[in-house]
Amino acid sequence: MKKLSLLIMFIVGLSAYSEARQVKDHDPLIERKIDSLLSLMTLPEKIGQLVLFTSDIDVTGPTIREGYKEDIQKGLVGALFNAYGAEFTRDLQKVAVEETRLGIPLLFGYDVIHGHRTIFPISLGEAASWDLEAIELGARIAAIEASAEGLHWTFAPMADISRDPRWGRVSEGAGEDTYLGSAIARARVKGFQGEDLKATNTVLATVKHFAAYGASLAGRDYNTVDMSDRELRQTYLPPYKAALDAGAATVMTSFNELDGIPVSGSKYLMTDILRNEWGFDGFVVTDYTSINEMVPHGYSKDVKHAAEQAINAGVDMDMQGAAYYDHLEALVEEGKVSMSTIDQAVRNILRLKFKLGLFEDPYRYSDAEREKANVMTAAHREAAREVAKKSIVLLKNEDKVLPIKKDVKTIAVIGPLADSQRDLIGSWSAAGDHTQAVTLLQGIEERAETSVAILHAKGAEIEGSDSTGFEQALQVAGEADHVILALGEAYWMSGEAASRSNLDLPGVQRQLAERILALGKPTTTVLMNGRPLTIDWLDNLPGAILETWYLGTEAGNAIAEVIFGDYNPSGKLTMTFPRNVGQIPIFYATKNTGRPFLEQEKYTSKYLDVPNTPLYPFGYGLSYSTFTYSDLALDKEEYRMDETIQVTVKVKNDSDVGGEEVIQLYVRDLVGSVTRPVKELKGFQKVYFAAGEEKTITFQLHKDHLAFYTATMEFEAEPGDFEIYVGTNSSEHLSASFTLLE
Ligand code: NOJ
Repeated sequence: MKKLSLLIMFIVGLSAYSEARQVKDHDPLIERKIDSLLSLMTLPEKIGQLVLFTSDIDVTGPTIREGYKEDIQKGLVGALFNAYGAEFTRDLQKVAVEETRLGIPLLFGYDVIHGHRTIFPISLGEAASWDLEAIELGARIAAIEASAEGLHWTFAPMADISRDPRWGRVSEGAGEDTYLGSAIARARVKGFQGEDLKATNTVLATVKHFAAYGASLAGRDYNTVDMSDRELRQTYLPPYKAALDAGAATVMTSFNELDGIPVSGSKYLMTDILRNEWGFDGFVVTDYTSINEMVPHGYSKDVKHAAEQAINAGVDMDMQGAAYYDHLEALVEEGKVSMSTIDQAVRNILRLKFKLGLFEDPYRYSDAEREKANVMTAAHREAAREVAKKSIVLLKNEDKVLPIKKDVKTIAVIGPLADSQRDLIGSWSAAGDHTQAVTLLQGIEERAETSVAILHAKGAEIEGSDSTGFEQALQVAGEADHVILALGEAYWMSGEAASRSNLDLPGVQRQLAERILALGKPTTTVLMNGRPLTIDWLDNLPGAILETWYLGTEAGNAIAEVIFGDYNPSGKLTMTFPRNVGQIPIFYATKNTGRPFLEQEKYTSKYLDVPNTPLYPFGYGLSYSTFTYSDLALDKEEYRMDETIQVTVKVKNDSDVGGEEVIQLYVRDLVGSVTRPVKELKGFQKVYFAAGEEKTITFQLHKDHLAFYTATMEFEAEPGDFEIYVGTNSSEHLSASFTLLE
């Protein structure tokens, strides 16, 4: 068998290169090799390349299918997911390479979302850093660790825009904003894929879940999506496109239907937009059994019909559903699927196997030595800690409760999340080992002076109605000079299949907090959660609030640095925090309506029982420094279409502590051929200011920043009047205006 594969490799070099398949930027040698392979492959072998099954070392969806090893041996499976570990992947690769007729190597994929072994903050938390270099670094280290363990492919980044925090998967994305989400998607792809797919420390990225999965109705996972084509293109598609422009090699379809068509059967998305408009030349993989799910969606009469619809729509690889495995052969024989459709899908997949260098050395990623040397290193932990501290958002700091005073003698660390390890690494923590995670209690103990007494009480569980622990917690708090209260959600309450209709703190945590805060001690509430929560009541109580998401392996150390003032918090929310669930969806880039809210007028757009404003707006986050904005200026009042708009603003750190500020620029187009949002983020800079330092910050805008899908669906800027806002968040800013000429 092995000899045959070698012979094939020789022949492929000599075979003719099909003109028709010559695509711009494709390596002709690789295309020629694919031609040769295709000419040797039987239909079942071709279909095998389109099949992705899970191994049994992790479970990320319903029903594990038995028998994947036999399928590999028969050449009926081209890729495996939930499969990692140098030895494990090497053994399976050996079966594919040495025991099958053509010896085509397997591709190994996994959900390496926010770290592989060394776990970084959940994606929503990391996004709150607004630090693209930090985000890229997180993905880079994840790729280094994953690739050392035999992985070639990660199912990240998730580029789904979502404006509904009930949807548990907001924890996996970058938040509500298209511009920021696009920048973050690009950074993550760069981190995963690096400069060279052939390097053994990079992995293929997958932009997911294409498309508009984040708009699931009522925030319920897997639910229906329906929106105008304009909204789709304006708000939801750009982050996926940005990831592809950055080179993302693969695309994952989403579970939802869009405009009545389940996405895995959508020719409009998979062929018209992805291939024809955007020129995508990687491969498309479904989400877990999403072809099969076209039956309950009511779009396919059975799985065979679904397989026909999916492949003809342009979906190359079937994840776990066995729809292609079971039905493609018959569909080709019946003439319902053409051989050229199959060949094109196989080509898209083989091309990436070639690009990864798997045909040269199928074992190059499964390297036990690298696995030992490159995984969970001190340097990786250090990087995880740096990124974690940048991801923390200071939501409130009444009476400058933070940083903790130098003269405290006793600190009480209380709450169900105070000493939890498992929760800290969040959902989708891949091969992360939670026993390696530093808890908040450990972080505080480690960083506090030895003379400071650290007391601890759990107080309550995350869920349930048991308040018997309150007494001990109150006693411990009563003895302390500063109380740190760790509250939030359990890690499994966000992520996939984890929607919530109520965004309050679960269980009796609110009661615990109210009792503790009633003691009147300086108190810091440390929140750990995967989404915006409804904490209006907490904001009304004294003290400080730190939003720490799930910060990963180094969580406790990172939070301790902020609490003791060794790091000045610099994170800003990338998702609006509502006051209550009834306000959802609530996001900053909203439309004005014909009756914008007016205090003195009854017939305006509002609720009777809650203000229109959020609890914390998009872009919000405090610092131990105080930043003052002044002198917002434009270099002109009127600009021609081709001119650059130069915006300057002075920002001063009016405090005696150095810190970073995320300076945000928003634009409003006052009148359009279709209505435009009241503001849209179009620029940001994260800048360090020494104590007392003032800097002039410059932004440059051009017509693409002002462009949108017009009444005729052209993507262009329209002449007219604009406003510019620059400030510390989407609600507090200076403003200026200009006119864009024809
Ligand atoms: C289902 C999830 O929706 C997707 O994000 C993930 O990559 C796959 N399962 C594989 O685990």
